[in-house]
Amino acid sequence: MLRVETIDLSYGASRCLRGVSLEADPGRITCVLGRNGVGKSSLMRSIAGLERIQGGRILWEGKDVSALGPADRARAGIGYVPQGREIFPFLTVQENLETALAAAPRGSKVPEEVFTLFPILKQFLRRRGGDLSGGQQQQLAIARALTARPRLLILDEPTEGIQPSVIKDIARVIRLLAREKNFAVVLVEQYYEFARELADRIAVMVRGEVALGGPIDAMDDEAVRRLLTV
Ligand SMILES: Nc1ncnc2c1ncn2[C@@H]1O[C@H](COP(=O)(O)OP(=O)(O)OP(=O)(O)O)[C@@H](O)[C@H]1O
Ligand SMILES: [Mg+2]
Repeated sequence: MLRVETIDLSYGASRCLRGVSLEADPGRITCVLGRNGVGKSSLMRSIAGLERIQGGRILWEGKDVSALGPADRARAGIGYVPQGREIFPFLTVQENLETALAAAPRGSKVPEEVFTLFPILKQFLRRRGGDLSGGQQQQLAIARALTARPRLLILDEPTEGIQPSVIKDIARVIRLLAREKNFAVVLVEQYYEFARELADRIAVMVRGEVALGGPIDAMDDEAVRRLLTV
């Protein structure tokens, strides 16, 4: 399980995360909500090891990973799908997937399961990443994270700029990964409706802090919506 304990993060003089705590358990989906610029991506980058936190700690499967860099966290089972997907446009689908094997043991291959989840990628193995549609690129970004065989999957706004039919597909895969494959999932979302359908727990951020959090069943929908519209 993931335990983020009262972490602080500043960019120079500006404080971005203030005492943020978050939990994610295997088989469960934790959804982080909040308006633009409240620190959602900074929190995800901190968990993935791309930002060095200044206070608090991050525990994963009982170990303090706060001081580990991104490659070591990937090896520890933390998978990260960045906002905006960040696939390599000039590499093929196959090559994009193989970039995730850099931190894996020698001789590791792209797991066949990735193509069971996203059959379109098998069909487009030789196509360049930049020639895929936005939805297909998002599927590629998720597939790339899964190629490193993580146990925690962090998804930063996977539905951003994607058409509804593909959003449904992505939601189905996220649910399957948590429910059937026992992944711990942390999902950043702008839209409460989508979050509500998937999440077991939510955390609503306001200006670098978690203003409201807990199991979805205990949430006051109106209170959540107020925090997302102020
Ligand atoms: N590398 C950086 N250097 C300086 N400031 C940054 C950096 N990255 C983010 N920030 C600032 O930190 C704050 C939080 O940004 P962050 O990207 O984490 O927000 P977010 O909630 O993910 O926003 P969005 O919904 O637009 O994706 C913003 O004010 C942003 O301008
Ligand atoms: Mg963001």
